[in-house]
Amino acid sequence: MASPMASLAISPADRVFVLTGAGISAESGIPTFRDADGLWRNYRIEEVASPLAWRRDPHLVWDFYSMRRRVASAAKPNPGHFALAALEEVLQDRFFLCTQNVDNLHEKAGARRVLHMHGELFKSRCDTCSLPPFADTSLYESPGELPVCSCGGKIRPHICWFGETPFALEQIFQALDDCSIFIAIGTSGSVQPAASFAAQVAGRAKAFYVGPEAPANHLLFDECFLGKAGELLPGLFSCRGSA
Ligand code: APR
Repeated sequence: MASPMASLAISPADRVFVLTGAGISAESGIPTFRDADGLWRNYRIEEVASPLAWRRDPHLVWDFYSMRRRVASAAKPNPGHFALAALEEVLQDRFFLCTQNVDNLHEKAGARRVLHMHGELFKSRCDTCSLPPFADTSLYESPGELPVCSCGGKIRPHICWFGETPFALEQIFQALDDCSIFIAIGTSGSVQPAASFAAQVAGRAKAFYVGPEAPANHLLFDECFLGKAGELLPGLFSCRGSA
């Protein structure tokens, strides 16, 4: 476990893969999932975040995501988000940001290339036809009407639910193969496939974790920087000889 003053050295030859989880948005007022005040303490996954939940009660599902849209739209990025946007600016295409988060705080902080492997809160799509996901900030709360597609299908949140396959896995695994430094930030390491990314790079890339407590998969990391992302990230990276 690293002391708070430690820093993470990045050399000109390094390619950095960053994975973020709910913890990076905690200081922005967006609850995580599994902490004491986490979403899954107050909501049942099988009622609001699975294909079966959608088939059974789409109103309940949209009430849940409307609540999350309301919270996220009022949230502002914190110094952790800004530190990663600044690192992207320095490293350019040697930087790959993959987030499990569905909020848009990375983009609000200026990040230009963010891969949302679990979808995006402010996008919706049709559950029937191949209409591409579209920007949608609307709230669909009971007892209001639920949105319907021109094909007659139901419009659902563009979110990867439990039991569904995350987005862009091929691109993610390619970037994992290419990286020399892997950094996971604010994720409990309890949800696959993201929890296995550190194992994917083991023996080939250096792996670091940033968060207030060691994650479930902490043995996969070379070093854990224990603390809040918004407090540790701003001073953590030392990029030597970068363009
Ligand atoms: N800074 C950094 N990390 C933090 C902070 C903070 N300020 N506050 C809490 N954390 C850490 C917690 O210690 C915890 O390990 O963030 C982690 C949040 O873990 P989870 O709530 O399990 O969230 P996450 O790992 O992102 O969940 C993965 O599970 O529910 C699904 O699809 C959902 O993308 C989500 C996935």
